Amino acid sequence: MSKFNNLKFQNESFPKTSDVLNNSPAYNEKKKADKINLIKKLLKEKDAKIIAHYYTHEDIQEVAELTGGNVSDSLEMAKFGASQSSKTLVVAGVRFMGETAKILNPEKKILMPTLDAECSLDLNCPAPELLKFRQRYPDRQLVVYANTSAEVKAMADWVVTSSIAVKLIEYLNKKNIKLIWAPDKHLGNYLNDKTNANMKLWNASCIVHEEFKATALIKLMKENKDAAVLVHPESPKEVVELADVVGSTSQLISACKNLPHNKMIVATDNRIFYKMKKAAPNKILIEAPTGGKGATCISCAHCPWMAMNNLDNLIETLIDEKNEIIVDETIRKKAFISTNKMIDFAKTL
Ligand code: 13P
Ligand code: SF4
Repeated sequence: MSKFNNLKFQNESFPKTSDVLNNSPAYNEKKKADKINLIKKLLKEKDAKIIAHYYTHEDIQEVAELTGGNVSDSLEMAKFGASQSSKTLVVAGVRFMGETAKILNPEKKILMPTLDAECSLDLNCPAPELLKFRQRYPDRQLVVYANTSAEVKAMADWVVTSSIAVKLIEYLNKKNIKLIWAPDKHLGNYLNDKTNANMKLWNASCIVHEEFKATALIKLMKENKDAAVLVHPESPKEVVELADVVGSTSQLISACKNLPHNKMIVATDNRIFYKMKKAAPNKILIEAPTGGKGATCISCAHCPWMAMNNLDNLIETLIDEKNEIIVDETIRKKAFISTNKMIDFAKTL
């Protein structure tokens, strides 16, 4: 059980909701503390826990940690929800993370600070198109990345996240099961290279990781010869090939802590620095170069959808119990099978 579960909030004096929400967006520490106190009160009233991804704003990560919630990668987010007895889960991340929580916890109310937080991988893998792709390879099973809709998970044989994808594909490949991979082509290529699984790949990518550039990274590495390079496998192959460690967000945070290097060049969403700094306070963290700060930069190492989560929309969601994730029950039941197989597989590792 989390050490935060026994926190007592009864004696705290809480600001009025209207006072907190009417503050200017450029809030100071006092205003932030008021918002956090209000969130604590609301979570208690609504019997709710926050599950946040490392790419969300550090205020969200902080309040999740302070209230016995969870901040983690997408696999741990999915596992945490199922381990909680609370009636409501507030998922601060992107839509597929909220849907995964609903798929695994149909009895719980799943809320999100915004339902507009999408994922480019999910958006670029519509279920009807994927079905046509799948029908071209009737002898192959379909493995989908967790960054997909409930409809896509419902048609898949397996769901997986980046933290255990190499292990799952190795396992299936050893059984001589031929595979289709969707939607992230970079992660798919990485998995093919690591496992020789020769999967057929869907053609989509993450707009954030797509921006990391190998040529600029090589230059930065020459200027920082003592730095380790940490790369999320959604990055392009040329960038992955330069990495000392390739892994999920949790694995990159562990590497930051455990590698002997004092300097890290990090190719993933820069909000991960909040946790990296906590894990390794004395290390120097450098953002891997993206397309640039100019007109061509779409994301500048920060997911625009993750950035939509903030303390204000988190408060509004809790007050109104709005932005509920609804998944059609027939789809959910099918998606549960492939998603729960991932949870069971993770237990064997
Ligand atoms: P992780 O599972 O590594 O947290 O990745 C999720 C994601 O969306 C990365 O862009
Ligand atoms: Fe999707 Fe990329 Fe954002 Fe992750 S960083 S949620 S893969 S768009």
